Parts: sequence; structure tokens; C-alpha cells
Amino acid sequence: MTIARESESPHRSLERMNRFQEPEARRIIADLGLPPASRGLDVGCGVGLYGLWLAEAVGPGGHVIGIEPEAERVETARTLVAGRLETRRLEFRQGDGTAIPLPDHSVDWVWCGDVLHHIVETERALREFLRVVRPGGRIVVKESQVLSALFLPGHPELERRIQLAEIRRTLDEGGGRSFQERRQTTLASLRTVGLTATMRTYLLERRAPLGAADHEYIQHTVFSRNWGERLRDLLSREDWERRSAVCEPGAPANILSTPDYFCIYPITVFMADASG
Ligand SMILES: C[S@@+](CC[C@H](N)C(=O)[O-])C[C@H]1O[C@@H](n2cnc3c(N)ncnc32)[C@H](O)[C@@H]1O
Repeated sequence: MTIARESESPHRSLERMNRFQEPEARRIIADLGLPPASRGLDVGCGVGLYGLWLAEAVGPGGHVIGIEPEAERVETARTLVAGRLETRRLEFRQGDGTAIPLPDHSVDWVWCGDVLHHIVETERALREFLRVVRPGGRIVVKESQVLSALFLPGHPELERRIQLAEIRRTLDEGGGRSFQERRQTTLASLRTVGLTATMRTYLLERRAPLGAADHEYIQHTVFSRNWGERLRDLLSREDWERRSAVCEPGAPANILSTPDYFCIYPITVFMADASG
């Protein structure tokens, strides 16, 4: 029997996700047309790569502050992007999206990427975004997988059952609502605080032969971590074995080594103007 690994640290798996998304992430950020030299806030900045790309987009006169609740993740962000940009352009601080350590109206825009579904007090966080952004500024909420991604082409039934297991797994963390349900109610949450958002979905497509960043993300973060031990008890024994046969790194039928492998992964961006 093959053994599923879940050795991936949360920081490493976030970095892999960022590297996988990087080409489209840079396009999404460019499409936002953030004003040059503007001041922005990245709520739940993770390991800091999105903060770096946002800071690069606003140019040398701009300033981006990334906040994270855990001190350790703030340190990881600092280490990962240290030396890439001067502190006057990009800084990381400890802080929570529901109690942002910034004065009222102190930023031109707020970016919140793949974070809002983690914050059970969604409305409280959105009111904080509105408090810190200047009148006429912008609030951008990015959520990956509002639609489930396709990672197992040719195995739709198995993949659907894995997705359902993931939905069940995140119910507790999401305060009784799964992450996917929470992602799908983003527009409604924005409306609750008086924000009318536009939305746009970007589709990432990758196909064999996969580049290193894509292979690492799908193999280590998706297959071994997200679909690893944490799902074992939520799948039938037969489905766990089917999943192991196509997802385990050393398995002869590992799907990533097949010549016709492809994946499709959606990213949705919700954008709202904060009225004066
Ligand atoms: C999926 S990660 C996304 C990180 C980063 N934005 C990115 O795109 O790579 C979710 C992040 O939300 C952060 N987070 C969770 N609750 C938060 C809160 N209340 N305020 C700010 N960040 C929070 C987590 O620490 C984690 O880094």
C-alpha cells in the first residue's frame, strides 16, 4: 500500500500556490490598473509574494502593507521577499483583517486574496476594509475555486466525491459553512456592507508536460496535502485507493505523468469602489 504524505508546511504550500498562479496573478493585477504611486493594503498577505507583485505594479512611488495575524508568517513573508524591494515600497506587519492596525482612510485600495472565506466574521472584516480605504478607493477580493478546479481529467466521479469530502472537511473551519459555500457568497457579503461589486473570472489551464512550479503545486499541495490524510476518513476505502492510485507521487498510474494530463483552475476577482 502506498502511504499518503502530508508533510508540506503551510508556508511552503502557500508559496507553491503563489508560484502556480503567478502568470495569471500578474495579469489580474495588471488588469486592475492600480494607480501608479498608490498606497495599498494586502489583507492576509500569506508568504508575501502577492504583496510583492502588487508593490511592483504600483511602481517605485507606491507603498504596500501586508498584514497577517501570525508573527511567524509575517517573518516568512519578510524572509521570502527580503531584498526584492525596499521597505518604503513593501512592508509586512502583524495584524488581523477584523481589526486592521491602520488609521481610517489611510490607503487607496485593499486587496484580499484567498482570505475572506477563512474569516468567519466576514462582515466585520469588510467594514474594516471600508474604514481604512479612502473615499473613492477600491476594495478587491480575490477567491480561487469559486467553481471547483479540474485536477483529475478522466475521473469525474472520483474528483466530484473528493470535492464533496473537501466541502465536508471545511465545514467546521468555516463556522458551519464550507469554504466553497463561503467563496460563493462573496458578492452577497459585499452587498451586506453596501458594496456593489463587479466580478471577473480567470481560468488557468496547464497541460503536460507540466512546468516545475505547476507540477510541484499539483503534486505536493493539491494531491499530497489538500487531498492527503485529512480526507482519508471522509472517503470510502475504495475511493481512497482510487485516489492513491492516480495521485500518489510514486504510483505507476500517477496522472501527472500521463501525456494528456491537463488541469483547469478558476480565479474570481470581485471589485468594488468605496463611495465617498
Ligand atoms: C489561503 S491563504 C492566502 C494567503 C495570500 N493572500 C495568498 O494569496 O497567497 C489565507 C491566509 O489568510 C490568513 N488569515 C486567516 N484569517 C485571517 C484574518 N482574520 N485576518 C487576516 N488574515 C487572515 C491566513 O493566515 C493565511 O495566510
